[in-house]
Amino acid sequence: MKILVTGANGMLAKEVKKRFQKGNEIIATDVEKLDITNEKMVDDVISEVKPDYIINCAAYTAVDKAEENYELADRINGDGPKNLAKSAKTVGAKLVHISTDYVFGGDLDVSKDYDEDDEKEPVTVYGKTKLHGEQGIEENMDEYYIFRTAWLYGVGGNNFVKTMTKLGSTRDEINVVSDQHGSPTYAKDLADIIYQAIEKKIPYGIYNATNQGYTTWYEFTKEILKEQGIKCKVNPVTTEEYINMMKITQAKRPFNSQLSKNKLLKLGIQIPEWKDGLKRYLKEEKENEE
Ligand SMILES: NC(=O)c1ccc[n+]([C@@H]2O[C@H](COP(=O)([O-])OP(=O)(O)OC[C@H]3O[C@@H](n4cnc5c(N)ncnc54)[C@H](O)[C@@H]3O)[C@@H](O)[C@H]2O)c1
Repeated sequence: MKILVTGANGMLAKEVKKRFQKGNEIIATDVEKLDITNEKMVDDVISEVKPDYIINCAAYTAVDKAEENYELADRINGDGPKNLAKSAKTVGAKLVHISTDYVFGGDLDVSKDYDEDDEKEPVTVYGKTKLHGEQGIEENMDEYYIFRTAWLYGVGGNNFVKTMTKLGSTRDEINVVSDQHGSPTYAKDLADIIYQAIEKKIPYGIYNATNQGYTTWYEFTKEILKEQGIKCKVNPVTTEEYINMMKITQAKRPFNSQLSKNKLLKLGIQIPEWKDGLKRYLKEEKENEE
C-alpha cells in the first residue's frame, strides 16, 4: 500500500511510520513539504502521490497556547483535515485522522466513560478546533477513520513520563493532580490500533482509541516511579490546588477523559492495558539511550 503520512515529524507519526514500514511505501511529509492548511498544496501533493491511505498526524497540539491562538489552531486542526478529506475523495484515498477526548465536556461522573456518540461539548479552543476537524471530514467523505485518543506519550519526545521521571529523580516530593481521570496511551500502541483497523478493514467511522484501563495523573506518576525504582514522595492534589500552588493559568482540563473502547474491542481489535504500555515504553526508551 501507498501511505501518505502528514505531520510526520511528530510523536505519533514516528510510531506510525515504524508500524507500517514493512511491505508498504511510506511518503512522509511535515509542514514544509505538505502544509495541511494550504488547500492547493494538499491537492497537488495528493493528486501526485495518489495514496491508498492518508494518515494525518499533523495538528496544533499546544492546548494552553491554543487559547490565545484560535485562528491558527483552527486552520490546522479544523480546516486542515477538511482539506485532506476533499482531496482524498477526489483520488479515492482513505483518510485516517486523530482526534481527542477534548471534544467532550470532560465533567461526566467518573464512574462512567464516554462512548463515541456521546454529546460533544468542547470547553477549550483546542477541543473546539479538533471537533471542527472531525466535522470537516464527516461532511466531505465517507471512507475515513477518526481515532480519538488521550494522554499520549511516546519515545523520543518530551512527555509526561519523562517529566515525572526527571522530577522524581531530583526532588524529595512532588505534587500531582489526582482528580483528572483517563488512560495513559503509548503512541506505539495507538499506531498498532490504527494498523489493526486497516488490516481488518473495520467499518469506517469514529472510534475511541486509548490504552485500556483508567487511572489518574497521580496514580500514573506513582507507577512511572515504581517501575524505575525511583524513591520520591508523591502527593495527590486537586486541579485547583495545583493551579494555585504553581501560580499558572491554563486551559480547562477535562476531569473525565475516560473513553470506552467497546466499539473497537467488539471488532476484535487488541488493546493493551496502560500499565503494560508503560512497561514497554520504559524498556524501549532505555534501549534508545544505550
Ligand atoms: N499528545 C496528546 O496527548 C494527544 C492527546 C489526544 C489527541 N492527540 C492527537 O494526536 C495527534 C498526534 O499528536 P502528537 O502528540 O503526535 O503531535 P505532535 O505535536 O508531536 O506533532 C504534530 C506534527 O504536526 C506538524 N504540523 C503542525 N502544523 C502543520 C501543518 N500546518 N501542516 C503539516 N504538519 C503540521 C508539526 O510539525 C508536528 O510534526 C494529533 O492529532 C493530536 O491532536 C494528542
